[in-house]
Amino acid sequence: AQVISAEFVKSSVETEACPSDGSPEFALVGRSNVGKSSLLNSIVKRKKLALTSKKPGKTQCINHFRINDSWYLVDLPGYGYASAPNELRKDWNKFTKDYVLNRSTLVSVFLLIDASIPAKKIDLEYASWLDQNQVPMTIIFTKCDKRKKKKNGGKHPEENVQDFQDLISEYFEAVPPWIMTSSVTNQGRDEILLHMSQLRNY
Ligand code: GTP
Ligand code: MG
Repeated sequence: AQVISAEFVKSSVETEACPSDGSPEFALVGRSNVGKSSLLNSIVKRKKLALTSKKPGKTQCINHFRINDSWYLVDLPGYGYASAPNELRKDWNKFTKDYVLNRSTLVSVFLLIDASIPAKKIDLEYASWLDQNQVPMTIIFTKCDKRKKKKNGGKHPEENVQDFQDLISEYFEAVPPWIMTSSVTNQGRDEILLHMSQLRNY
């Protein structure tokens, strides 16, 4: 599984406006600032294909990127971004939820969880919302390169990952597949590509 070509196709703010050629796609979802756009860049080995920022709230649309002229990676706005204006936040919620529930070519959602901090309530809520709606998902732990810090709860990424898995096993009948990643070291890149190719059946 290799990325030979990757190109930005379009930004949409409703499911109906997304590309309609029927190619399979994978969407990156997760809290604002968790590293969705950075992970996309890491997967395609392009530093600036998707726009990233230190400040949460950078990605505001459903962004389709065409890979190897045969499937899509989709970068979405994050949830849980408290300082976005209320109206804007409602809108994001509305179209991203609609996209996740109704996009027929969506093969699997990749739910990103920050491994450098303890699990957040909103992540557990989002994971169980996906589960309840039977949306196929893979859990991607991000920022696994970060060292433990007192202000981040004083745990190693490996410990936070274990804690999160313990928590979701209470919500889920079966824990979804999961991959540990870093967009700084490109950890997990090949594993993600292999997993996506298995899910697409080619
Ligand atoms: P929104 O578009 O606002 O929802 O955020 P996002 O999830 O797309 O996050 P983005 O990729 O823009 O990254 C947010 C910040 O986290 C940036 O400062 C990145 O450099 C940093 N970051 C992302 N991934 C990693 C990682 O694997 N390791 C480290 N150390 N930092 C990362
Ligand atoms: Mg983003």
